[in-house]
Amino acid sequence: MPITYNEQSREFHLYNNKISYLIKILANEQLGQLYFGKRIPNRKNHNYLVENTYRPVTSYVFDDDYSFSLGNVKQEYPAYGTTDQRRPALDIKQPNGSRITDFKYVSHKIYAGKRKLTGLPATYVENESEATTLEINLYDELIQVTLCLQYTIFENSAAIARSVKFSNDSDQKYQLKTALSLNLDLPDANYEWLQFSGAWGRERHLHKTPLRPGIQAINSARGASSHMQNPFVILKRPFTTEEQGEALGVSFVYSGNFLAQAEVDEYSVTRLQIGIDPFQFSWCLKPNETFQTPEAILAYTSEGLNQLSQTFQKLYTTRLARGYWRDKERPILINNWEATYFDFTEEKLLSIAKKAKELGIELFVLDDGWFGERTKETAGLGDWYVNRNRLRNGISGLSRKIHDLGMMFGLWFEPEMVNKDSDLYRNHPDYIIETPKRHASHGRKQYVLDFSRKEVVDNIYEQLVKILDEGEIDYIKWDMNRNITECYSIAYPPEQQGEIMHRYILGVYDLYERLIERYPKILFESCASGGGRFDAGMLYYAPQAWTSDDSDAIERLKIQYGTSFGYPQSMMGAHVSASPNEQLGRNTPLKIRGDVAFFGAFGYELDLDKLSSTKLASIKKQIELMKKYRSIFQYGTFYRLKSPFEGNIVSWMVVSEDKSQAIVGYYKILNDVNCEYRRLYLPGLEADTLYNVQEELGSYLGNFTGDELANIGLVTTDASAGQNQETTDFYSKLFILERCGELSD
Ligand code: GLA
Repeated sequence: MPITYNEQSREFHLYNNKISYLIKILANEQLGQLYFGKRIPNRKNHNYLVENTYRPVTSYVFDDDYSFSLGNVKQEYPAYGTTDQRRPALDIKQPNGSRITDFKYVSHKIYAGKRKLTGLPATYVENESEATTLEINLYDELIQVTLCLQYTIFENSAAIARSVKFSNDSDQKYQLKTALSLNLDLPDANYEWLQFSGAWGRERHLHKTPLRPGIQAINSARGASSHMQNPFVILKRPFTTEEQGEALGVSFVYSGNFLAQAEVDEYSVTRLQIGIDPFQFSWCLKPNETFQTPEAILAYTSEGLNQLSQTFQKLYTTRLARGYWRDKERPILINNWEATYFDFTEEKLLSIAKKAKELGIELFVLDDGWFGERTKETAGLGDWYVNRNRLRNGISGLSRKIHDLGMMFGLWFEPEMVNKDSDLYRNHPDYIIETPKRHASHGRKQYVLDFSRKEVVDNIYEQLVKILDEGEIDYIKWDMNRNITECYSIAYPPEQQGEIMHRYILGVYDLYERLIERYPKILFESCASGGGRFDAGMLYYAPQAWTSDDSDAIERLKIQYGTSFGYPQSMMGAHVSASPNEQLGRNTPLKIRGDVAFFGAFGYELDLDKLSSTKLASIKKQIELMKKYRSIFQYGTFYRLKSPFEGNIVSWMVVSEDKSQAIVGYYKILNDVNCEYRRLYLPGLEADTLYNVQEELGSYLGNFTGDELANIGLVTTDASAGQNQETTDFYSKLFILERCGELSD
């Protein structure tokens, strides 16, 4: 069993061949954290890791003892207010106003496999031998609440899934003010904190800063994980690079409000936490009820950031994403949004679709504007029935015509929203989230439906089902274009208003789940004004997500590079769009737009009718190339080589699972004159295997072994401007490597 419990030392050891995690029942029966990191031997006793010592200005637990303080020991799931004065993982407000708790070990269970988290996204196993789970029950006698700490260690992954369940066994009501999913006390603070932050149009840019004493945190209180912060952080050692060194990452499998925080105390202990943001949160834990936190994933590497990312990418691709499309190459799509916006007719859509078909595109997606009175952004959301003035043959007619062309058909929805100018709002003005007697703010003239209420979710479900049953729909783009304000639900009493943000996202998950169950073959792509809800929670329902509304190739280098730290490339919707670019007006060659978008769920987002025959021919070639290498682009092992956050040259690479093929994307943002010599050092290849390297498909560069490519490098020096006009600004190349034998001499 990869989880052991030693009765004498009262220690749990969770391990596989990559990592170890040690927990101890402490002298006061609470849980201590002893170690998380590279696999260590399975020894009986690690008592020396509980560093009980006298410290000035400290409070102690036992009457005749000056050494045991929770403020000084590393803990699993700490509470505030006894001898630990740092930020807690839990906080329970009791009827007398007290928030002091004392959760003591009672029992534990170790079993093969992993349980589902009802109503929540979570990693899973396909058979029990893939993972082992430990559940530890702690009990606070005074308030009669049980805490069940859940840990799953995967057999082949340097990752542990964690969550916590609160059960109220008393006849009193409690207010759960904080219920985080993960707490990890680390023995030092010699780390850099990496976060992925931004805004609309520039999501998930990498930011790096050394840890310092005190609290550093990111959060979202918007009702969605947000464009601004992402529920994923990394702690790395200062000298850790992409290819070597220690790092650990925590990722939250959740799409609503979150907090990720590190608190460095006076002895340089780092307390790392992730969970639902306690700000504005409270959950009324009624007698005999339970509260299950969302899941958090903790991963470790001793071999650099690429390996850490690969752990998340692999786990999420294979054991978080689900269903029919999980392992399938994703269809190359064309989306009409940037081609037509709201201004389309059936003829126009079919004209784009026909051209797309000729080029080899496989899926036609009709974006916003096909329903209700949605000819503009101020009306129609909430009315999920076709606008016959625009599409006289309905969605069923259009989808049939698209299918007749031999393409799949996809449709845009924004199920969580309503415009005041809609039948839904006119019939149910009480369906929106707003605070009684207060002004309700709008975003894009739309309001958020109160998905904390089942009848609201049911209404939308019924409408969607009607359309999905009538039409032949293969793909859904599920959008969400504003955040929650004036949060309040008329369906809940005052003591439950702190639950609404969480209940809302549970409603979203419920709608997804019902649709997936009914239409298991539909491919879902999540979207939130681009990448405003690009998180691991969404991936459980929608195996791909629109990475950003900004499809400019140069901006996308940063966005996709940043995103790759925590998420797989198959999840990243990546489209070639028009030049000049719609978001920032930049002109870039079609080549670099393709070379960037290839490394994702690929597609086009432009008006094919406006392109010259030369451009169309180039697109056809891009599509051929994508189809040939699609499985490596989307499912190959991803390596970051050169960062857009550090310089003018950007590069990344994918390697097939059997290491027989690899593709390197090489991008030079601005041209440079008489430039330096350049090489790319390629990891991840087989040392003795000889690779045929093509610089672009069909142009032979040479044969090199994996060892040579890793150590000598691939020479990428290019001609300087002025002497050779071949290179320009926004220049890119794809190097294609294919196994061609072994070195014979
Ligand atoms: C959001 C999406 C876009 C597009 C529009 C339609 O902004 O991110 O891709 O679907 O909505 O209104």
